[in-house]
Amino acid sequence: MVEVSDVEKLKEKIARLKEELRAVIVAHNYQRPEVQDMADFVGDSLELARKCTQVDAEVVVFCGVHFMAETAAILNPERTVLLSEGSAGCPMADMINAAEVREWQQRYPGAAVVCYVNSSAEVKAESYICCTSANGVKVVDSVPRNEVIFVPDQNLGHYISTQTKKRLILYPGFCYVHHRIRPEQVEMAKRLHPDAQLIVHPECRPEVVALAEAVLSTSQMLRYVGASSHKSFIIGTEEGLLHRLREENPDKSFHLISNGQICTDMKKTTLETVAKTMELRQNVVTVPEEIRLRAKQAVDRMLAVS
Ligand code: 13P
Ligand code: SF4
Repeated sequence: MVEVSDVEKLKEKIARLKEELRAVIVAHNYQRPEVQDMADFVGDSLELARKCTQVDAEVVVFCGVHFMAETAAILNPERTVLLSEGSAGCPMADMINAAEVREWQQRYPGAAVVCYVNSSAEVKAESYICCTSANGVKVVDSVPRNEVIFVPDQNLGHYISTQTKKRLILYPGFCYVHHRIRPEQVEMAKRLHPDAQLIVHPECRPEVVALAEAVLSTSQMLRYVGASSHKSFIIGTEEGLLHRLREENPDKSFHLISNGQICTDMKKTTLETVAKTMELRQNVVTVPEEIRLRAKQAVDRMLAVS
């Protein structure tokens, strides 16, 4: 068990290493509370991608999963990007590779490929443009084709298809954390908290999205709740978001739909792994230059439209 004094020592160590490395630490909204509290910046995928282009640091320590650190590396060839825990990946991002994107493109030659940011650099390199859960509709609307191959998240793709006139061809990937939330569980949560508003992430299945008052990225949820006069919310995303929701809204209450809303990979990062990563300058995330340049086009196009 980690003692309080050990936590303080780890925080001091991380602060010292930050100075030594001229590093900035960024963390995703799903990270453990103590990791979020120690980071210089916490946000959703879009905010973190943007932030990484603006920081004044030699090293970016990314507390999240591999595709997020890889996006930082795509945008920052001159900075060193360290992933807070080397084995932290996103199972959905691993559901598609570059060869599969090319195969789908051959099957639908008139369509443009839009990839969710939860994808590898090689998949981004095969895509016309990238999007996040915060800007998917805007990005798809910006594409100069009427047909779009959307990879890899079928649920985000389905949600976007209900908000746009474009025809979406959906690759069958999914996030196990959001996809396993069932409408029956939502109905049960609504019965338990009849006054609560239901807000869900677009990675949830369509039958769950259909029951929600709002469909939002993680940081959009924070802004939505902050601006709302409602006092109680049922949250359809990973449980790590509750930390900021509760801190920023002490007068409001938050309920999860089920106890399965945990992303194992997001929880692999701890204060210990951050300190070790920085001390050993390990888990350096790099992207081969030929792939990086093509992937960067897709990410830059996204940053230009949103
Ligand atoms: P956000 O971009 O909404 O933070 O989502 C990232 C993610 O991995 C959702 O599962
Ligand atoms: Fe990937 Fe889902 Fe975890 Fe997000 S919550 S990192 S989409 S597995």
